Amino acid sequence: MPSKKQNPITKLINTDGLQHAGYLAVAKTRAKALKAFSYVVPIRRPMLFVGETSCEDLCDMLISEGSSNVFIVTDAVLNKLSISAKIADYLDSKNISYHVYDGITPDPTFTVVEEGLSQSIDAQCDSIIAIGGGSVIDAAKMIAMAQGNKCTPQQLIGLFKAKKPSMPLYCVPTTAGTGSEATLGAVVSDDKTHQKALSIDPKMVPLAAAIDPTIMQGMPAHITADTGIDVLTHALESWMSANASVETDYYAASAVKSVMEYLSVVYKDGGNLKAREEMGIAAHYGGIAFNKAGLGYVHAIAHQLGAYYSIPHGRANAIVLPYVLDVNRQACQKRLAELAKKTGMVKDGQAGNSDAEIADHLIAQVRELIATLNISPTVKGMQSSDFDSIAKAAAKEVSDTYAVPTYLSKSEIKDILIKIKQASEDRMSKNESNDEAA
Ligand SMILES: [Fe+2]
Repeated sequence: MPSKKQNPITKLINTDGLQHAGYLAVAKTRAKALKAFSYVVPIRRPMLFVGETSCEDLCDMLISEGSSNVFIVTDAVLNKLSISAKIADYLDSKNISYHVYDGITPDPTFTVVEEGLSQSIDAQCDSIIAIGGGSVIDAAKMIAMAQGNKCTPQQLIGLFKAKKPSMPLYCVPTTAGTGSEATLGAVVSDDKTHQKALSIDPKMVPLAAAIDPTIMQGMPAHITADTGIDVLTHALESWMSANASVETDYYAASAVKSVMEYLSVVYKDGGNLKAREEMGIAAHYGGIAFNKAGLGYVHAIAHQLGAYYSIPHGRANAIVLPYVLDVNRQACQKRLAELAKKTGMVKDGQAGNSDAEIADHLIAQVRELIATLNISPTVKGMQSSDFDSIAKAAAKEVSDTYAVPTYLSKSEIKDILIKIKQASEDRMSKNESNDEAA
């Protein structure tokens, strides 16, 4: 875990001189530049295969594209569970050779990526299949880009560093969360400092993805819940983005609709393949939406909570999301009302008629879903003395990366942190009294 004095995300960015007026001007200019970028630079969408035969379909595509020696990237747990065996057996049946690298760890470091790259080069592989969650897919993206460009993973950090195409990359996500199989970015951690470094390049988008619900059915309920709320957050932040478009709205609304309908179902019954499949597609759609529209304060604050207090990404989003919806409500009530109607979250007259009432109803339903999933608001070790640097880093992440509907001052972000801390303490003291009563 990183030291509190060396917040990994803060260290990546210059946090000096964040006066709010200047900050707003810079942030809005960057947001416009991001919008222009998303219109001008084509971002391809991966070919999507869905269903129980999707892995075979993905392998058939890879073979038809001329690959004959596949590098399978996964992690040791998934490899032990034989999830990669389904694909390996199919490649065997087609006389395609492969090499398995199962050394990917959560929050993969440069060393982990370099080891994979070295093995892929030594084995003379000509394509990659990534089988795993966001960490595995991000690592595979870096390996594929570095091999395609004959460079080190470090040389790919930043914006548009690749000169040549990535080695062909195919993804089999095993969680319905990050949507990394659809996005143009990858995160790698520094081995010593745990600083997170980001590589963004449209060439990084995988060629194809397979959403196979049978692979996801063994996912534990709490991970299903956390990753599912990550999907919801991607979709809501894309929808509320100042850079949202007709295209991103379609994918964001589709993802919201599926999450509201299927996440609690699959949380209660992990073997429900229909719900698993819908959540897998929702995660993919969420990734497509935020590829262009971007994210917002939920992610900016959640990234900091993850770095400071080691909270899983999806859970951190679940903790922050209701508060950011509350502060966005004023600026977004029309848009939130539109979303509630479009996704069937509210029927005519059910929650009143004004946009404000309908937006409130949507926010209440999001809170209810999070409660149904038993996601605890507890953040252990949260300290008020951290809030200044957390708020500064979150504000800077937004300014650098996102086009939010309303910009918050540092003190407004700190107000959110105070509310999170209060809710966390309330929950902890409630748990203690329950323990005493028992
Ligand atoms: Fe996320």
